[in-house]
Amino acid sequence: MIRPETQTDTSLVHAVHSAAFPTTAEADLVDALRANDHLVVSLVALDEVQLIGHIAFSPVTIEGVELVGLGLAPVAVLPSHQGQGFGGQLIRAGLEACRELGVDYVVVLGHPNYYPRFGYAPASTYSLDNEYGAGDEFMVIELTPRCLAGHSGLVQYGDEFRALA
Ligand SMILES: CC(C)(COP(=O)(O)OP(=O)(O)OC[C@H]1O[C@@H](n2cnc3c(N)ncnc32)[C@H](O)[C@@H]1OP(=O)(O)O)[C@@H](O)C(=O)NCCC(=O)NCCS
Repeated sequence: MIRPETQTDTSLVHAVHSAAFPTTAEADLVDALRANDHLVVSLVALDEVQLIGHIAFSPVTIEGVELVGLGLAPVAVLPSHQGQGFGGQLIRAGLEACRELGVDYVVVLGHPNYYPRFGYAPASTYSLDNEYGAGDEFMVIELTPRCLAGHSGLVQYGDEFRALA
């Protein structure tokens, strides 16, 4: 089951990211985004007994471009539950929630073999740069068809991401 995060999920969401990533940096990032009211879309995945996954989307900007953009980050599934489709379900449901909110595009910094199955393409094909020196790992999906045509520039994440970098 996938549903929006609620107040009682907070510590479990922190635990999922802490377990899935080598450090608590991503878990702390989610807390910072939440504290600043920057978790635009925040979904949890549950199996029969527990919360086993979480995905977050927060605002990004391209200077001079008046489109609504979000960054998918982070997404995590408990190690014991990885490889069973939960991550894919979270990503698909998250992108659908973004679409329903009228979001134009969503970027992600992730594995270039994983995200294309959800419709992502390298952001470089749209002349979009990133703050991390990433190549094909930096990807974008247009939720508003062709909204990025004619736009280029540096995609900037929120200040909360500086601690992560
Ligand atoms: C990435 C993650 C959320 C995917 O969730 P999941 O439930 O395991 O994913 P699914 O079962 O839907 O999909 C499995 C696919 O993801 C791939 N995959 C999983 N983690 C991956 C990673 N870190 N890099 C590349 N591919 C990965 C698997 O190889 C598998 O590919 P296949 O379908 O071609 O065999 C999960 O593995 C995770 O929490 N990883 C640790 C945290 C992380 O790296 N998050 C992403 C960066 S923000």
